[in-house]
Amino acid sequence: MKAITVEPGKPGTARYEDIPEPDVREGSILVEAVAAAVCGTDIEIAEGKYGWAPPGQTRLVLGHESLGRIIDPGVSVSFKKGDLVAGIVRRPDPVPCPNCAVGESDMCRNGRYTERGIKEIHGFMSERWRIEPEYAIKVDPSLGILAVLLEPATVIIKALEQVLAVGQRSFWEPKTLLVTGAGPIGLLAAAVARLAGIEVHVLDRVETGPKPELVRALGATYHSGSVLDLGFEPDVVVECTGVGSVIADSIQKIGAGGIVCLTGVGAGGIASRAVADVAAAAVLKNNVVVGSVNANRRHWYKAAERLARLDRKWLSRLITRYEKPENFKQALERKPDDIKVVIEFSEI
Ligand code: BGC
Repeated sequence: MKAITVEPGKPGTARYEDIPEPDVREGSILVEAVAAAVCGTDIEIAEGKYGWAPPGQTRLVLGHESLGRIIDPGVSVSFKKGDLVAGIVRRPDPVPCPNCAVGESDMCRNGRYTERGIKEIHGFMSERWRIEPEYAIKVDPSLGILAVLLEPATVIIKALEQVLAVGQRSFWEPKTLLVTGAGPIGLLAAAVARLAGIEVHVLDRVETGPKPELVRALGATYHSGSVLDLGFEPDVVVECTGVGSVIADSIQKIGAGGIVCLTGVGAGGIASRAVADVAAAAVLKNNVVVGSVNANRRHWYKAAERLARLDRKWLSRLITRYEKPENFKQALERKPDDIKVVIEFSEI
């Protein structure tokens, strides 16, 4: 079968090539790939900046945002042929650490977890893949190909759960939520927060293109420019850019008792303010800055439910480009008007 593979650590090594059929040890359910979405992490892996091949191998099958159709449910009675499923990304570490032991591998303590298409286990950008029943999530068939957006939605469900958990430390009735960055994660964060009825603001640097309208269509407010220029102090910031200055501004601008949840992974940059000044702002207002990565089964279950409640037309506008697997090079390129790029493996 064909798969999109890469040699982690070496830029420019991505290929669409023949590889053996998936090993039965990868899971008893056999799935035909329908689609896989591309995210910044995939691009970083293709650029040689992130990612690990399985032990003893040099290449990794890319892809962690999946959608497939079951060809053979194997021994599982909870799934049947034809079901549409997505695969949970992370697997517990082998020790396991206390969090992995209780099913919270998203909170792994020793860093020895593995992740499909990212860290030491093959991903979903292959014509067929296998999955263990406990890591397969059924999606609402009425979503069709839009169900490929489930994985980024899980990241947001976890992040919002973290915010709510931290919020329990004191009396707290959040009214306004600011999302920084109107990429797929930011837009899904805004959509999910709107489902909860909260006042949502989204800030991004662009002034044109589809993003402002997508935000307004949710009944949320779009802003461009600096977080510091906003005319209000948000109760919650869901930070989806990973850009140092946006993070520092968010910590400065958040209201007293507010929570800044960081979901973007950036690197480097020039600090616009000294760390101690940023920290002082947090101390004097009892603010919490919480990082959030990945998602466990509970978040996947919730995300599947929330995604199914979102407007299909709105969701379809998040996918700005479809590519065939043989055009993987274009799929792994960032183009100015991209929100989400989806690689189509087979007809839905
Ligand atoms: C994925 C997460 C993963 C993280 C770090 C993200 O792109 O969505 O599932 O945990 O990368 O590898």
